[in-house]
Amino acid sequence: MILIAIFLFKIVNSGKVIDGLDCVNFMALGDWGGWQEYPFSTPAQVKVAEQMKNLAQKMNISFIISVGDNFYPTGITSPTDPRIVYTFKNVYLRNSPLEGIPWFLVAGNHDHRMDQAKHQIEYSKHSDVWNFPDYLHTLRVKLNSKNKLKSVRFIFVDTNILCSLFDDFRLDQGFDILNQTYYDLVERELIKSKKDDLIVVVGHHPIYSGMYGRLIPKCVNQNFKNLMDKYLVRAYISGHDHTLQYHTYRNKYSANETHLFISGAGSGSYNLPIIETKNKIFDTKFYWQNTNKMDSSWASFKSGGFMLISTSLDKFTFKFIDEEGEILYQNSFDI
Ligand SMILES: *[C@@H]1O[C@H](CO)[C@@H](O)[C@H](O)[C@H]1NC(C)=O
Ligand SMILES: *[C@@H]1O[C@H](CO)[C@@H](O)[C@H](O)[C@H]1NC(C)=O
Ligand SMILES: *[C@@H]1O[C@H](CO)[C@@H](O)[C@H](O)[C@H]1NC(C)=O
Repeated sequence: MILIAIFLFKIVNSGKVIDGLDCVNFMALGDWGGWQEYPFSTPAQVKVAEQMKNLAQKMNISFIISVGDNFYPTGITSPTDPRIVYTFKNVYLRNSPLEGIPWFLVAGNHDHRMDQAKHQIEYSKHSDVWNFPDYLHTLRVKLNSKNKLKSVRFIFVDTNILCSLFDDFRLDQGFDILNQTYYDLVERELIKSKKDDLIVVVGHHPIYSGMYGRLIPKCVNQNFKNLMDKYLVRAYISGHDHTLQYHTYRNKYSANETHLFISGAGSGSYNLPIIETKNKIFDTKFYWQNTNKMDSSWASFKSGGFMLISTSLDKFTFKFIDEEGEILYQNSFDI
């Protein structure tokens, strides 16, 4: 497994393309940033990591997507911050079948605090697996079997920069402002992806959340959503809410459905049982947070989860899995 993993890493890093398989498996998790005190991880995070390792032992996992909030509460202070060892390496990589599998990351609001997200970008140069080369980056997966060929393009977007949100207070006050320069850069990547068969966008803030009263940046659920519709983006993977969610809506420019995923339970899940059930645009297919294993403090949360996704030539299949390895929900859509 380790030999395969090293081989795999080399393929990914030469231009960030994965080629030659008829099906590619990956995992997506978010808000896995541990805790600020020793042991710098939460019990839920460690259990979720064990389930990821179990899967990596059984199947070929090509990469892992992180939707941000990689280090709580304020990111890392340098590319050699010991939190990288405690919260990342010790939990996921050490003596693990995940060792050598590349991670593709975006930053969350916590990573940006105190202007520290740049250290995570810098860390890419010091790591064999940490792929976070810039605030906007991409990965292309080429799938082929006998006579068929398809390509899936992943675009990793920083929704904090997109909305000029560098602290959470601005969002709480409804002060998100669209960064037009960054928006144009994202649009340029979407134009480049027009020939791809499937575009998957990854960002931190969701377009829609079933969480009651949740504040969503306007520039994400308006400007950004319109942009994704225009370029026929079929799937958006985000986090920020410490829940697992799946919603769909109809793209206004085509008959296609857009699939919205929230995988924000890498370090634990909320205990907020109220969800918004009535929405005219978004159809909530799945909403999960564990209310049974609640503890008084976030640092001792015991339940969490992540996603396992497979893209084949004609299907995008996904599962939401909890810290016990239980499949909470699964479904697929045609590519
Ligand atoms: C696992 O996936 C990688 C690409 O991510 C590929 O290079 C490798 O050949 C695959 N291994 C097997 C055993 O299929
Ligand atoms: C807007 O985005 C550009 C391009 O990424 C960046 O250089 C600039 O700092 C951003 N401005 C703000 C206010 O975030
Ligand atoms: C998605 O929409 C495009 C353009 O409208 C169309 O060509 C394609 O067949 C649709 N795909 C699916 C799976 O509905």
